[in-house]
Amino acid sequence: MENLTASRKQIVAISGSATAPSKTTELVKAIAHRYMTHFDADLTLIEINKIGPAMSGALTRADLSPENVHVLEQIENADLLIVGSPVYRGSYTGLFKHLFDFVDQFALVEKPVMLVASGGSERHSLIIDHQMRPLFAFFQCNIAPLGIYASEADFQGSVVSSEALLDRIELAVDLSVRALPKSFSS
Ligand SMILES: Cc1cc2nc3c(=O)[nH]c(=O)nc-3n(C[C@H](O)[C@H](O)[C@H](O)COP(=O)(O)O)c2cc1C
Repeated sequence: MENLTASRKQIVAISGSATAPSKTTELVKAIAHRYMTHFDADLTLIEINKIGPAMSGALTRADLSPENVHVLEQIENADLLIVGSPVYRGSYTGLFKHLFDFVDQFALVEKPVMLVASGGSERHSLIIDHQMRPLFAFFQCNIAPLGIYASEADFQGSVVSSEALLDRIELAVDLSVRALPKSFSS
């Protein structure tokens, strides 16, 4: 029998925000939906504000709850990661880094990754290339050439609203799709 789910990809989107509602969460969701116009996929959303309280007291992977070990496995087994964080003090949030400190060092090798951040202003947009890109280069990921940064002016509340941001999402995702492995084309 034909397995109709064989080509379904697993997109895992991570939002490093400590709060809800969250601009970063809405942004990573909008980006995931753009990817899903290109190929069939299931979307798993991981929100730091939900997993953070249980994760923050853990110093090693062995300290994590079974639920949070499952979160790590979802990240490690994803076909594509969308990794987003708000800018806190000029960088990604501490809990975003704490989560990735538990991820197996070699589990993300060659994994396609889209870098995403939201900040109060445009001033910290280099977080994408100066903070996030080195972290995912450490993991030897296949990092999308263009990341996506948004600031306060791009949202109404937490909803992605600016045409300019929607254009950036389209451009960055479409560019990254061209660099995805052949297994992504249906
Ligand atoms: C603790 C803290 C530190 C922040 N530091 C910065 C910063 O250094 N640069 C910046 O542009 N915005 C900064 N902001 C603003 C947030 O990055 C911005 O509001 C972001 O869009 C919030 O995303 P969220 O709704 O997903 O939490 C900070 C906010 C908080 C709460």
